[in-house]
Amino acid sequence: MSEVKRVGVLGAGTMGNGIAHVFARSGFDVRLCEVEQRFLDRGTETIRKNLGREVSKGKLSQQDADAALARIAGTLDRGALADCDLIVEAATERLEVKRQIFEDLDRIAPAGVILASNTSSISITKLAAFTGRPEQVIGMHFFNPVPVMKLVEVIRGLATSQATFDTVKALSEKLGKTPVEVNDAAGFVSNRVLMPLLNEAMYAVMEGVATPEAVDQVFQLGMAHPMGPLTLADFIGLDVCLDIMRVLLEGLGDPKYRPCPLLIRMVDAGWMGRKSGRGFFRYE
Ligand code: 3HC
Repeated sequence: MSEVKRVGVLGAGTMGNGIAHVFARSGFDVRLCEVEQRFLDRGTETIRKNLGREVSKGKLSQQDADAALARIAGTLDRGALADCDLIVEAATERLEVKRQIFEDLDRIAPAGVILASNTSSISITKLAAFTGRPEQVIGMHFFNPVPVMKLVEVIRGLATSQATFDTVKALSEKLGKTPVEVNDAAGFVSNRVLMPLLNEAMYAVMEGVATPEAVDQVFQLGMAHPMGPLTLADFIGLDVCLDIMRVLLEGLGDPKYRPCPLLIRMVDAGWMGRKSGRGFFRYE
């Protein structure tokens, strides 16, 4: 596999724009692909704002921020990813959506190009099987906010080759991140352990054990978590939390992973957390 210089990022949502941001800031050319212009505009605006945040904190010069932004080319055409050396998929957490994307990418990208997924819990082995190159499919799981969090969980599917793993590990290091190797299992390590914590915090609220504020205080003050579990669930998105709990329940088959009924009701109500203005807390 030749050196990675140009990276395709599919999806400009919360995770996708953060991933494009860190690649561009580290000197890679980025093709950022979305399905609608307004999503592309919103993602690009977020990158501009977050680069500006780094400039105002003195972590980046204005010149470097401008250069990073100039390295990102937006597109609505998946075919434009054909000249990328590696593609990271960061689309909606729906198996059917990802199946279509991996089938398309397998057609579009030349043989040998690595197809990475930022999926938070969907099986890498399953995604790889939608392609004719399972050896070159891998999980590259970033954490929100991507420009800040140091971890990349690198997930090996059953067929992922050592060369693919080595390339993605080295690439994560070039981004200033720390790659941690994990095998493919529902929720990997991060969400297998994190989500049941958030889900249990929701049960505590539902059962009237404590208010959301009190639950969060326990974790912020007692365990030094930067955000309490309910603020974090709102930050991640309650719909995303519910999707992940369902993947854990189905994939691991243990009823301890059942999603909290309050979480299900809130998602039904359209209370998705911070992005919708309301979750366990309210947002401007
Ligand atoms: N882009 C760039 N920089 C950002 C940023 C962004 N989007 N968001 C925050 N920052 C920077 C700030 O500029 C600030 O920089 P400084 O240290 O130089 O001053 C620093 O991050 C801290 O931000 P703030 O001072 O604004 O706010 P806080 O101190 O409250 O920190 C936080 C915010 C970093 C989000 C912190 O609350 C935190 O670490 N929360 C936990 C986040 C977490 O657990 N994420 C993982 C979620 S799970 C996941 O993503 C996996 C998925 O599969 C579900």
